[in-house]
Formats: sequence, C-alpha cells, structure tokens
Amino acid sequence: MDHAIRIGRRRRYTPTRAAAIETNARANSTDERTMGVLRLIPIPFIPIPGFIDAFATYVLALYGLIALGTYWLPKALTQLMPTQNLKKKYDAKWALVTGASSGIGKSLAVKLAEQGLNVILVAIDEPILDEATKELSERFEGLEFRKIGVNLGKPGYLDAIAEGTKDVDVQCVFNNAGFMLTGFFDKQPLERLMINHECNATSAMQITHLFVTRMLEKKLRGCVVFTSSAAACQPTPFSALYGATKAYVSSFAANVGVELKSRGIDVCAVHPSPVASNFYDKAHKLDSLNFFMNFAVKPEELPDEMLRPIGRVLWHDVGGVAIGFRMLLKIFDYGFFATLISRFAHFMGDFKKNL
Ligand SMILES: NC(=O)c1ccc[n+]([C@@H]2O[C@H](COP(=O)([O-])OP(=O)(O)OC[C@H]3O[C@@H](n4cnc5c(N)ncnc54)[C@H](OP(=O)(O)O)[C@@H]3O)[C@@H](O)[C@H]2O)c1
Repeated sequence: MDHAIRIGRRRRYTPTRAAAIETNARANSTDERTMGVLRLIPIPFIPIPGFIDAFATYVLALYGLIALGTYWLPKALTQLMPTQNLKKKYDAKWALVTGASSGIGKSLAVKLAEQGLNVILVAIDEPILDEATKELSERFEGLEFRKIGVNLGKPGYLDAIAEGTKDVDVQCVFNNAGFMLTGFFDKQPLERLMINHECNATSAMQITHLFVTRMLEKKLRGCVVFTSSAAACQPTPFSALYGATKAYVSSFAANVGVELKSRGIDVCAVHPSPVASNFYDKAHKLDSLNFFMNFAVKPEELPDEMLRPIGRVLWHDVGGVAIGFRMLLKIFDYGFFATLISRFAHFMGDFKKNL
C-alpha cells in the first residue's frame, strides 16, 4: 500500500489509476507465496496475478538450469572419468602431433610415447625439432619417432606429411601447432597474417582430411584432436586473427565430429587456459596477456586433460580462464559483449600503446 501512495503522489491520481493501484497492491499482498521474478520489476499500475509470476519464475529458472546444466553436467562427468590410453582405445600404433618441437605439442608427444605409441613430430624444420625427436628416441627405446620439418603456414606441407606417413597407419592426430600475432590487425603485413591463418586453421583442416580419409578407407578407429584455445569463444581484440582461427578450428571440430563419431573417429577441440610455453615469447607483451599469464600452468599438465575428453565430448575447456569466459558469455550475449568492448577499448592500455 505504501508503494501505491508513493506512486500516487508522483503522478496524477485518477479513479482508474487508483483502482489499478489497489488491485496491484492486493495481488502483491494477498499471495505472499509467490515471490517470483516479476515482483522484482516495478510495474505499479499493472496487476500481476500470482500464477503468471510463478510461471515466469519457473520458465527463467528452467532456462538457467538448461543453459548451465548442459555445460556443467558433461563437464563434471568428463572430469570424473579417468584420462585415457589411446593406444588401447583405438588399438593404435602411430600418432602424429603438429607443433611437437616444444610446449604443449612436445608434452603430448611424450605422453603418447609413454602409452606406447610411435610418434611423428611435425614442426618447422629447426634444430629444436631435431632435439625433441632425439630426446624422445633416446628416452623411449623400442619406439619409433619421425620428424617432418615443414612450415604449416606455407602450402606444400601436406605433400610432405602425406609422403612421410604413407607407410604407417596414423590413428591419433593432434592438430596442435599454432602461434599468435598480437597488436593491431592493420599493422601486420598481409603475408604474415596469411601464414598465421594457414598454420592455425587451414593446415589443421587439410591434415584432418588426409588422415580421416585414410582411416575411413581402411576402416580404422581413431581420433583427431585440436588444440584450440579459450580465445575461440570470446572476442580477442589485439589478437584478432588468433581468436578467429581458434573459433574456426573449434567450429570445424564440432561439425566434422558429428559426421565422424558413428563411423569410428572421435573428434575433440580442447580449449586450454594460459600455458607457460614459448608461445608468448613471440608476441607483444599485452597487458591483458600478462594478467592471464598469472594463471598459467606448465605444458606437462595439459596432456592428461587433453586425452580425458576424447570420444566423450566434442569440446572441452581446460582451466579457470577458459571456463570463466564460457560462463561470462552465458550471461552476456557474444555480440553485446564485443560491442561493449568496442565502446571502451580506446581507454585500454593495450590500445593506447598503439601496438
Ligand atoms: N600457451 C598458451 O597459453 C596456449 C593457450 C591456449 C592454446 N594454446 C595453443 O596451443 C598450441 C601450442 O602452443 P604452445 O603453447 O605449446 O606454444 P609453443 O611452445 O610456441 O609451441 C608451438 C608449436 O607450434 C609450432 N609452430 C609454430 N608455427 C609453426 C609453423 N608455421 N609451422 C609448423 N609449426 C609451427 C612451433 O614450432 P617452432 O617452435 O619451431 O616455431 C611449436 O612446436 C597452439 O596452437 C596455441 O595456440 C596455447
């Protein structure tokens, strides 16, 4: 009733409005059992029947439950399951890892070798690739390690990979190579952007095509795993192409994964949070990256988490940053979030540095 009087003072008090205020006050006061969401909205002149209030509350609660439950339930179940031995799972002998000369890729190669798989290491033809191959060969006697030194940013690599693997059945494919160009998009030469695009996105698609067709032809079971990123699911200003290429591989994995699952090939895109690897050495020191680096984990912590979801879910977020951004974008619409950042970006330190 207090509410009605207060409103009445502010506005012209007509008999119709007075009746509406009365009805509304009665509706609000008589049905104390309905403490629904609509009562939080100040609509003084429209009486809200309790059952509508209750219905709206249930609908919203259900919406929230589905939006969060379809994320958290598979996530929790996957997390409770043990990590997997891919050699046993697919009765496999060979795995291929791109970007295997350092960081996450090298850790993956070690993990797969520990499971008894022979590994093909693909990376730029540099001493670091030779060292990684030598290190693995010495550590895992009885297993075979091959290196294929190619630049995945420049066409020509697919023939080299096809030739280097023609005598073996690769059943576990890890599209992991990638790098990030930071700073303003327009300040990068187009050629560099195209190399980045090819390495992070297009090469992964082509390599997948090569091995998936071979596996299907021979009726072999196997998996294709993409090292995507938390950046796949959020706007990434100052590394525009990076976020876009990671969104590409995550989307591609989700699409092709649907086609391949029932034909014996598991596909999975993993979204790691920051990892303390060489990755950031090649990038500008962005304030935003420096902040997230505080939460970085070691590359050796990734393989178990990357093998766990294979065949169980198509997307898997690893670590607090990836999960946090997925949650944030369940609250805020992606387009709204990007628009909001665009309005304030010029106040950001990274923008002012005009990288
Ligand atoms: N570090 C993170 O915080 C983080 C987070 C989420 C996702 N990721 C993703 O994880 C993947 C691995 O990154 P990382 O952290 O392990 O970084 P990293 O230590 O720099 O490893 C990247 C690997 O990719 C190779 N590579 C880069 N450009 C290549 C090219 N053009 N052709 C062939 N190989 C190339 C590198 O070889 P060279 O060493 O010879 O260049 C290296 O073996 C990347 O796809 C990255 O986007 C990283």
